[in-house]
Amino acid sequence: MNSRILLTGKTGQVGAELLALLPSFGEVAAFDRHELDLSNPEQIRRAIRDVQPTIIVNAAAYTSVDQAEREEKQAYIINVEAPALMAEEAKKIGAALVHYSTDYVFDGSKNLPYEETDHPSPINVYGKTKLAGEEAIRAVGVPHLIFRTSWVYGTRGAELLAYGPTARDRAAGIEDRVRPTRGADLEPGNR
Ligand SMILES: NC(=O)c1ccc[n+]([C@@H]2O[C@H](COP(=O)([O-])OP(=O)(O)OC[C@H]3O[C@@H](n4cnc5c(N)ncnc54)[C@H](OP(=O)(O)O)[C@@H]3O)[C@@H](O)[C@H]2O)c1
Repeated sequence: MNSRILLTGKTGQVGAELLALLPSFGEVAAFDRHELDLSNPEQIRRAIRDVQPTIIVNAAAYTSVDQAEREEKQAYIINVEAPALMAEEAKKIGAALVHYSTDYVFDGSKNLPYEETDHPSPINVYGKTKLAGEEAIRAVGVPHLIFRTSWVYGTRGAELLAYGPTARDRAAGIEDRVRPTRGADLEPGNR
């Protein structure tokens, strides 16, 4: 119960659930985009140095899959450079990093559920940046957990419960192949 937890993305689907759940694991300093902009490396360094967390939980990300095709640089900054810097800063102070990734690191061609050991081969900018973010964290060598989750749903945001499968999902034949994840189940203490 002596953990100091720095949470990013507190306004997101996953982040909002974590904001409600993490206080039972320690003292939480939670940030939204205005308080900590992940495209600003100095803000990342300052937040980590100010909070001195024992655990950083990065629930923020560039999550707009379609828009990422047009904003590759921005997606790269948020999904790769920011978590890499968090990992480096975490390592310096002996903190651990919890990070969220995605099934988009795979190309979707496997007809069985994916396993951790399956070879990732993302087919779009979002998936490529999320995979590169994972690799950057691993390369730093900080203690970390990376959750590859899929199609998070909850009472916030615009996923699944609000929209359901899109016409594109149906065309791709994926609507009956996904396994949605309840946002609240993505809290690091959940096993
Ligand atoms: N949703 C899914 O189905 C799904 C599936 C697989 C993996 N994931 C992964 O799960 C994690 C959480 O996703 P989510 O569904 O909670 O996403 P989300 O609802 O889109 O939330 C993303 C969060 O990131 C913040 N953010 C975006 N750009 C930022 C920036 N430049 N600086 C600081 N914060 C910024 C957003 O702030 P604003 O509110 O200000 O925009 C928001 O709080 C992500 O790593 C995502 O890749 C999600």
